[in-house]
Amino acid sequence: MIIRQPSTAADFAAYYALRYQVLRQPWQQPPGSERADDDEVAATHHIMAVADDGMVIGVARLHPSEKNQVQVRAVAVHPDWHGRGVGLQLMTYLEETAAAQGFTECILHARESAVAFYRKLGYTVVAPSHTLFGVIPHFLMRKLLAS
Ligand SMILES: CC(C)(COP(=O)(O)OP(=O)(O)OC[C@H]1O[C@@H](n2cnc3c(N)ncnc32)[C@H](O)[C@@H]1OP(=O)(O)O)[C@@H](O)C(=O)NCCC(=O)NCCS
Repeated sequence: MIIRQPSTAADFAAYYALRYQVLRQPWQQPPGSERADDDEVAATHHIMAVADDGMVIGVARLHPSEKNQVQVRAVAVHPDWHGRGVGLQLMTYLEETAAAQGFTECILHARESAVAFYRKLGYTVVAPSHTLFGVIPHFLMRKLLAS
């Protein structure tokens, strides 16, 4: 498995397809709902995990949110690959990328079901945040990045 940035149209198609499959389709959201307004902004950094057979098995994105702070969004691992270290590798890659650019803090809004995953990675809960689709509670979490 490797982590890399999507670059071709085919890469981005697979990237958004996995984001949709994991984060939107189970809640009957329409195709296209997986896209964010700032996905195509230059400062938004997209990455994907690619298995040895070429399949895209994980995706995530990062953007600067405040001074010295980045935000991670839309982390999704293919269900067949849960619990095999893909999420950890995606997050490590994003955190190292941000730290190398001088950012000192990373925040995210975690689904309730993913809070324990982010805790394992060193994030702490700051406060409850929004409830997605009326049924998925989220929690604002933060982590100081190693310099
Ligand atoms: C949450 C998610 C990104 C985790 O990715 P993953 O590849 O399954 O996680 P990893 O295998 O890298 O797990 C790293 C560690 O966290 C643990 N972990 C992973 N998911 C967990 C969870 N939901 N609850 C508790 N622990 C979890 C793993 O057991 C592992 O611990 P270990 O090192 O002690 O064995 C993935 O399960 C997913 O895509 N879920 C659905 C979408 C989602 O919730 N995305 C996050 C939106 S905020």
